[in-house]
Formats: sequence, C-alpha cells, structure tokens
Amino acid sequence: MKEKIEQYLREVGQYSETGAEQVEAFRIRFLGKKGLLNDMFEEFKKAAPTDKKELGQMLNTLKSSVQDKINSLKINTGDKGHHLELNDLTLPVDFTEAGTRHPISIVRNQITEIFARMGYTVAEGPEIEDDWHNFTALNFPPDHPARDMQDTFFVEHNKIHGDIALRTHTSSVQVRTMENNAPPIRQIFPGRVYRNEAISARAHCMFHQVEGLYIDKGVSFADLKQALLVFAREMFGGETQIRLRPSYFPFTEPSAEMDISCNICGGKGCNICKGTGWVEVLGCGMVDPNVLENCGIDSKIYSGFAFGIGIERMTMVKYRINDLRLYFENDVRFLQQFEPVY
Ligand code: PHE
Repeated sequence: MKEKIEQYLREVGQYSETGAEQVEAFRIRFLGKKGLLNDMFEEFKKAAPTDKKELGQMLNTLKSSVQDKINSLKINTGDKGHHLELNDLTLPVDFTEAGTRHPISIVRNQITEIFARMGYTVAEGPEIEDDWHNFTALNFPPDHPARDMQDTFFVEHNKIHGDIALRTHTSSVQVRTMENNAPPIRQIFPGRVYRNEAISARAHCMFHQVEGLYIDKGVSFADLKQALLVFAREMFGGETQIRLRPSYFPFTEPSAEMDISCNICGGKGCNICKGTGWVEVLGCGMVDPNVLENCGIDSKIYSGFAFGIGIERMTMVKYRINDLRLYFENDVRFLQQFEPVY
C-alpha cells in the first residue's frame, strides 16, 4: 500500500494538464466517489494496526496534494477555483432578501392612484427649467423674493431662455401642460424639486411634490375643496378633517394652505403637528387668470384650480418619520422597514 501511495504522490506531483476537462477528470480520478482516494481509505481500514499511523499520514498528504494541485492548475488557467471544489449540495439554498420600495415612492404611488380614480392623468416635466416655466408664466413679478439666489439653484444664464435653474416646484409642468393642451385638463405632475435651503430635520435642498391641475368651464373653489377632502380621506382615513387657511401664491387667486388633522396624536398635540393638532400638507388655489392667459387659455371662458402636495410631509405623517434627512441617506435600517418588492 505504501508503494502505491508513493507512486500516486509522484503522479500528482508531475501532473500538468491545465484544460478544464482534464483537470476535472484528474479530480474525479482521485477525489471522486469511486476515486482512488476512497479506495485507498477502504484499504487503509484493513491495514495492520502498527502501520496505520504512517499510512494515515501518507493518505492525508496525498489527499491535500491532489487538492493543492487542482487549485494551482485552476489559478494558472485563470479560474479562481470556486466551482471545482467539492460543494455540499445538501446545504439549504441561500435566502435572498427582497429589496423594499422607498417610502417616498410608496406615497407618490398612492397619491397618483387616488387621483387616477378621480380621472386625473399623469405628466412629467424637466427638472432643469427656464425662467418662463418656473417663474414668469406663473405670474411671479420680476423682483419676487422667490427668485432670489437664496431659494433657487441657478444653472446658467442663457441669451434665449434667460435664467436656467433647477425647478423650485412642479408648477412649471402645469405651465407646459396648459401651453400644449386645450381644456378640459385634469392632470397631476409628480416630481423632484430643489431649493437652496440649509439641510435640517425639517428642511432639505431637494424634495418631492405632486402638483395637480383641473381646468374647465365653471370650476369653482368648492370643487377644489371637495377634491382635496376626498383625497385626504382616501389617504389618511375617513375620519380625517381638513382646514384651508388663506395664503398667497403668485399663480393662484385666491390661495390657501391645507392642513389635515394630525392622525398621530389625534389632535392632542405631538412633535409632528407641533402641538397644534394640524399638519400642513399642501398649497392650493384658483389658477390666476394671468396664468391662464400666459399659457394661451381664455380666462373669460375657463377657470380652474391647482394644488401642490409635499410628498415628504405626507410620508412623515403616514409613517411617523420625524427627520427629513432619513429619506436621502439610504440607510438600510431605515429602508428595510417598508414594504418589500417581490
Ligand atoms: N407651487 C407651490 C409650492 O411649491 C404649491 C402650489 C401649487 C400652490 C399649486 C398653489 C397651487 O409651494
């Protein structure tokens, strides 16, 4: 038996074929189920007890030199040597974790779906906008503070289009839609917007909005209020209350901000509603006749309403998230808490 092992050791030492098939044949010859090593170990069992120590060591040396040989041949052929190793096929399959949908996407999809049921279609527009679509067509006076460097990220000044900037709201898409479509218009515009603000738990330099627009003959403020009430109750449950507070936007007249009753503390007061029982979630109003005219729509025939929902704010209320920065940090411990995508 000793001679046989020595002969095999020599054979292994000299073996030099590198072709994948040859290496595999070599592996099977020595390490396969019916291979030489198994035969030798069987023979070993019958060996005289006095020989066992030496023979055992020799067999182990042979086994590891076969394995070393295979590994080195595979490195030479550029094969890192994973799949020729003896794998345990009885091991359970690795559980691959499913990814999760980002909370902003979940809430954006919910908003879109609720308005789709009310007959709104979806449109998108560019994130890099010109002054006309982001400001001028929306009735911003030339010296309006919202055009200030403080709020807007300017990209360049262009001779034809004037200032080019990252859009500060999705109302720019409202303009594009009105320019290119005749009423009736019933559309929502989800998208990312940018403002030059210091980043904190309550403010960020980028966030998401869903703007909505409804233009037809005889659209009134009552229609706006009803659409928003239906939306709020679909989103936050049938008990939800809304309140509209007078506000100002250059592109709507009259304008309002909408609060929903805080569903976290039930109105008793918490850090999200800052103790008031109400959370501001959107701006809205009747589209200013100047805006309709700027976009080629006859304001004597048509009227309409618009609203702009802050998705981050809605998501905060929905999932009780108290820091805006969590949305953009991509910390898996945060993201894993949301519904998996299969
Ligand atoms: N564009 C406004 C904002 O970003 C929101 C708004 C949209 C208000 C439509 C009124 C009508 O704050």
